[in-house]
Amino acid sequence: MKHGDFTAWESARLARFHKALDAALPPGNTYPARLHEAMRYACEGGKRLRALLVYAVGEALGGAPEVLDAPAVALELIHAFSLVHDDLPAMDDDDLRRGRATVHKAYDEGTAVLVGDALQTTAFEGLANAPHLPLATVVEMVRLLATASGSRGMTGGQQADLEAEGMTLALADLERLHAHKTGALILACIRLAAAAAQADHATRITLDAYGTALGLAYQIQDDVLDATASSATLGKTAGKDLAAAKSTFVQLLGLDLAKSRAQTLLDEALQQLAGFGEAAQILRELTLKITHRRH
Ligand code: IPE
Ligand code: IPE
Ligand code: MG
Ligand code: MG
Ligand code: MG
Repeated sequence: MKHGDFTAWESARLARFHKALDAALPPGNTYPARLHEAMRYACEGGKRLRALLVYAVGEALGGAPEVLDAPAVALELIHAFSLVHDDLPAMDDDDLRRGRATVHKAYDEGTAVLVGDALQTTAFEGLANAPHLPLATVVEMVRLLATASGSRGMTGGQQADLEAEGMTLALADLERLHAHKTGALILACIRLAAAAAQADHATRITLDAYGTALGLAYQIQDDVLDATASSATLGKTAGKDLAAAKSTFVQLLGLDLAKSRAQTLLDEALQQLAGFGEAAQILRELTLKITHRRH
């Protein structure tokens, strides 16, 4: 596949994602307008890697883009909710996100709490209404996303992250924390896409291994970028992890070992795709793009 093919695929999928996202969010001028406007604000910007992952995995399995819009939007809504709450003063206390003021700075703290609540329920509303899919698949996607978002997934990881401030965790405990706070939603992208594409059991097991490795690598990379990139490049405040004494791979292993651990995990992820042939070429390119991201 030529690189141009990936670029064309990416812009086509981003365009359809943004159309579906716009349709999922209530208009910004409808009651209560401040909340709906702030929800839209929270969803703007971002690399959309989770949405692209849903399309790339689903299409590698023969799924049509039409059945992947709903899970792609749901994943990005849950992700946006997690960022709005992550930035609150009671959590990471960040003023900058996606190159501009965080929701609680642009609006107010109360609104930011409610934006997170409402983005979460909007995600499940959209999944429940997913068109073109058997009801059993819709229920499965709702169940997978609920588990990935809740106390046994992202929310649980965020709790562990807060408790780990100022501590030095054992490597296995830090991996578990990262696998929850970030890995669970990345894995959910893969699982919902596989469900929407009606993948068989063996395929799902292989893709779970791919997603688990990718999810952990993604947060290690985020930790590395926090320690090495500028706020201008990141669109969020650099150096926050050290300032807040967060438990990160950089803190535990140092920069070089953290980077090589992320690279090893990404190689492992790519190895899982070996049996998928040409059908997974876009997914391989996307995986490499995620690996080489600079923000
Ligand atoms: C940032 O995620 C927070 C993590 C879970 C690592 P992204 O880097 O994917 O954020 P956006 O969506 O592109 O802003
Ligand atoms: C965020 O981890 C994970 C979630 C939002 C679930 P971080 O706190 O490292 O994310 P950034 O660096 O603020 O984007
Ligand atoms: Mg955080
Ligand atoms: Mg943060
Ligand atoms: Mg971070």
